[in-house]
Amino acid sequence: MSHDLKNKGLATRNIHAGQYSDPATMAVAPPIIQSSTFCFDNCAHGAALFSGEGEGHIYTRMGNPTIGRLEEAVCALEGGQGAIATGSGMACINNLVFSLMNAGDHLVGTSSQYGPSRMVIERDWSRFAVKSTFVDTSKADEVKAALTPETKAIFVETPANPTIVMTDIKEIAEIAHNHGALLIVDNTFASPILQRPLELGADVVFHSMTKFINGHTDVVSGMIVTSTKDLYAKIKPVANFLGACMDPHQAWLVLRGLKTLSLRVKACQENAIKAAAYLESHPKVEWVRYPGLKSHPQHELALRQMDGPGALISFEVKGGIEAGTKLLDNVDIMTLAVSLGGIETLIQHPSSMTHATMPRESRLAAGITDGLVRVSIGCEDIEDIIADFDHAFSLV
Ligand SMILES: Cc1ncc(COP(=O)(O)O)c(C=O)c1O
Repeated sequence: MSHDLKNKGLATRNIHAGQYSDPATMAVAPPIIQSSTFCFDNCAHGAALFSGEGEGHIYTRMGNPTIGRLEEAVCALEGGQGAIATGSGMACINNLVFSLMNAGDHLVGTSSQYGPSRMVIERDWSRFAVKSTFVDTSKADEVKAALTPETKAIFVETPANPTIVMTDIKEIAEIAHNHGALLIVDNTFASPILQRPLELGADVVFHSMTKFINGHTDVVSGMIVTSTKDLYAKIKPVANFLGACMDPHQAWLVLRGLKTLSLRVKACQENAIKAAAYLESHPKVEWVRYPGLKSHPQHELALRQMDGPGALISFEVKGGIEAGTKLLDNVDIMTLAVSLGGIETLIQHPSSMTHATMPRESRLAAGITDGLVRVSIGCEDIEDIIADFDHAFSLV
């Protein structure tokens, strides 16, 4: 049975939204409705469901009770009016471009956003005449200068992957709306526990739930949340036809991981604050970028916009790419792997891994230097993470 979650805190909503007991069996954990299709009482019932006059499920690509619970859960955390689960974070991006942009429309994006998310817009959607310009969205002037009469959306990733550059969501929402454009925010790095873009004026927020929301490095998935029912009504039918939908078992796993989101994000963050301080004081480290450090150029914005600095740190080892490679080849507890936001610490080298599809000049222009190392701090004992860094640095 569902609970009244109005005016409840974020942790309470995190544990209970969409996670009510099953009215049919009274099971406390949500059931997995592993069915591709749903039967109708009679033809009139089927016709009512297809026309939108009746409530119920038709076919899992269009909606499913287990997937619906997950949509309800993330929607409640982001404070949205509608949510659409997808098979991956990339599916969110393609759904959004496909449903909100037409040939000839223009989009302004964050230059250092996740490599494939920039590349699919810049390289692939351009083949269908969707135009784009990628700028440093932390600078409002650059965003304004990139706007054209055809600009229909500003697409921001904050904090951005992997430079940890932040964009002022409130400021960019105002610029977008004054121009008659939408603001879309990729909230993957922060999670709704630390940042809720719709509250700051964004129109659409999305996640690679592969990261913090699922949190256990075992599911690829995504979620779009809209600020209005109208936007939901615009995106949902296109998403149904695009077909990049979620599977009920995948949704159930994410529902299970999601229950501990608030706990995990806070535990990872507590460790990351200590790891960032350690890295900043290390003699073999050239620079560290972490919103919780006073040295971060947008530390003030982080305090204002986020409920905490998160768990992602980027840094460069003195000696550039060779020294960085040596460090990465010698970690033990930290795992050398892409992805982030899991319970375990993952460390990687963006210019040869997550952002390798970007041309080198675009990477460098976006601040992704050859030697940049990105680490997503997990929930292990921080002493063990720091000992792991100590050992790997001693071999550099
Ligand atoms: C910030 C960000 N957005 C989107 C994506 C794409 O998500 P997925 O890998 O779930 O398709 C990623 C993946 O790393 C990401 O880091």
